[in-house]
Amino acid sequence: MSLTVIAIDGPAAAGKGTLARRLAAALGLPYLDTGLLYRATGRRVLDDGRDPSDPAAAEAAARALRPEDLARTDLRGPAADAAAAAVASIPAVRAALLQFQRTFGVERGAVLDGRDIGTVIFPNAPAKLFVTASLAERARRRWLELRQKGMESDLATVEADMADRDAKDAARSAAPLRAADDAFTLDTTGLDPDAVFETALDYVRRRIPRL
Ligand code: CDP
Repeated sequence: MSLTVIAIDGPAAAGKGTLARRLAAALGLPYLDTGLLYRATGRRVLDDGRDPSDPAAAEAAARALRPEDLARTDLRGPAADAAAAAVASIPAVRAALLQFQRTFGVERGAVLDGRDIGTVIFPNAPAKLFVTASLAERARRRWLELRQKGMESDLATVEADMADRDAKDAARSAAPLRAADDAFTLDTTGLDPDAVFETALDYVRRRIPRL
């Protein structure tokens, strides 16, 4: 049977997760938030008292990753964000996490969100979305999300941290953040979650008519 993979990429807090979860539920497909793999890897390195930008420590942590690590409750917040971005720029870490992502998508089809799903993990995915929004809007969403979790933060700091992480994600040589040539770009600035979902679902159904 042909591959039923929906690849959703884009910068931080663009609304990928919300959209991916809703698409997966509506279409009856498994969902993988691939950012969790990098977050859990970064967290393991921090737990070991090592530096997330140390390639040997980060690769060992990626290879030792267990499914239960993805359910940890300490994978969000500034320290986890920075550790995730640091390990994500190391090619050996990305190589260690590649097969898990491919197997997850191939087994039963899936919706995966991340930075390189449509470019590296599944370049042959039949549906690819590149979800984005302005930096100010993405910073506002992340700030609200942190506040709802009881993590008070300063909007200007959240925006500066996000701009820095986006720049690093886009500039790194290993799987930099970019839209695949054949991706459908969806700018969610000024769109509510329902409008984003409807637009994306319409695109996916056109690309994969059997769904
Ligand atoms: O939503 P947010 O961008 O804050 O976080 P995320 O999607 O969980 O990604 C966390 C970090 O992991 C990003 O800054 C990327 O550096 C990295 N990442 C990646 O390199 N490749 C992926 N497929 C997913 C995440």
